[in-house]
Amino acid sequence: MEELIIRGGRPLAGELRPQGAKNSVLPLLAASLLFTKGCTLHNCPHLSDVESAVEILKALGCKVAWEGRSISVDAGDLREDEIPEALMRTMRSSILFLGPLMARLGRCRLSQPGGCVLGKRPIDLHLSGLKTLGAEVTQKDGSVTCGGTLTGGTIALSYPSVGATENLILAALGAVGTTTIYNAAKEPEVGDLIGFLTAGGAKIYGRGTSMLQVEGGLPEGASYEVMPDRMETATYLSAVAGCGGEVLVRGAVAGYLEPVIHCFALAGCRFREEEQLLALQAPKRLNSTYPVRTGPYPAFPTDAQAPFMAAMLRADGVTVIEENIFADRYRHVPALRALGGDIRTQGTVAVIHGVEHLRGTYLEATDLRGGAAMAVGALQAQGESHLCRIEHILRGYEDFPGKLSALGAEIEIHK
Ligand code: UD1
Repeated sequence: MEELIIRGGRPLAGELRPQGAKNSVLPLLAASLLFTKGCTLHNCPHLSDVESAVEILKALGCKVAWEGRSISVDAGDLREDEIPEALMRTMRSSILFLGPLMARLGRCRLSQPGGCVLGKRPIDLHLSGLKTLGAEVTQKDGSVTCGGTLTGGTIALSYPSVGATENLILAALGAVGTTTIYNAAKEPEVGDLIGFLTAGGAKIYGRGTSMLQVEGGLPEGASYEVMPDRMETATYLSAVAGCGGEVLVRGAVAGYLEPVIHCFALAGCRFREEEQLLALQAPKRLNSTYPVRTGPYPAFPTDAQAPFMAAMLRADGVTVIEENIFADRYRHVPALRALGGDIRTQGTVAVIHGVEHLRGTYLEATDLRGGAAMAVGALQAQGESHLCRIEHILRGYEDFPGKLSALGAEIEIHK
């Protein structure tokens, strides 16, 4: 079993370039089903989730060519309407193929991985939006079947779900007439999806706002560059902020990271922002900040919560975090405590009393961002840490140990 061995307790310094955004490339690959003349995506990261999305496209009958960081998709021969169960199980984002399959074929069948998707991360908003557009939805024994001709309509989301907004934009392009989505998610990755679709000629209005208008009509061809990964950058900023030192991130869009930058600036970091460039200078020890509350964009992102918490373990004072998006998103806390962190949680709130020293230990990644947070903690700890179950981390971070080594971290992967 692969593990990371981390010898921490030293400042970091160096340069980085963000990968293409995982949370963008997955919906873009689902959207590729809609392009009548094929499409090419550039700046695709090499991640297991991207491989799973490519496998789904192939299973549906698409021709897919992956060369370097570019993926070309020809969905002209799309026939299959069922996403294989094994692929559903590997990646929850496979739900994003539902909207485009409805748009192209007017039918879709999804198998559920043991009810997990419908349980912990429900898809009710995806399904009720599709019903508003005229789809018939049947759920039985953990599987979902959708069918019918879609007609444009008005959808008011009760919560600005990222995935539901993306799925409904994609479905609405196959509908007759115009669809209006109220309370749409405003995350930059939703904007990237709209950018890709409009590059192919789709008519979508309201990008970056909570009211979107989507005219029925499929995009033709497009060649598009995936946006930089703001969550990957937030993780490396957390590592440098926690360890002390400096980093220059070339190719980052600082505007997407403002809530994270703001919190680290309050904690004593200095930032320089230029076009496509973000520089961070961190003190030896951070100060605590005001309470940090996660929320839909442009609030503090839930995906940055765990790495941020890890960065604040040694901060001088008390930091309070409130997690408002996912109920079970403090699974990294026991591991951060094992490193010596003083964290108390109650419900959605975590209180971190900064300690002077952390010490290396044995850790097990529980999830993608939680696993990355454990590495951020271990990098600040005296002595050696062993972090196993790193397949969780590698789902979302390309060359995780390599990028940290480039910053001077002592980190290696053991097979
Ligand atoms: C996306 C991101 C994920 C990020 C999350 C929130 C991708 C591939 N993943 O996930 O990394 O953490 O946004 O920024 O882009 N909900 C419902 N019913 C639904 C859909 C969602 O109740 O039908 C709830 C979820 O359980 C959760 C909240 O809404 O509590 C936010 O979920 P959502 O915005 O949909 O996140 P994802 O699109 O799954």
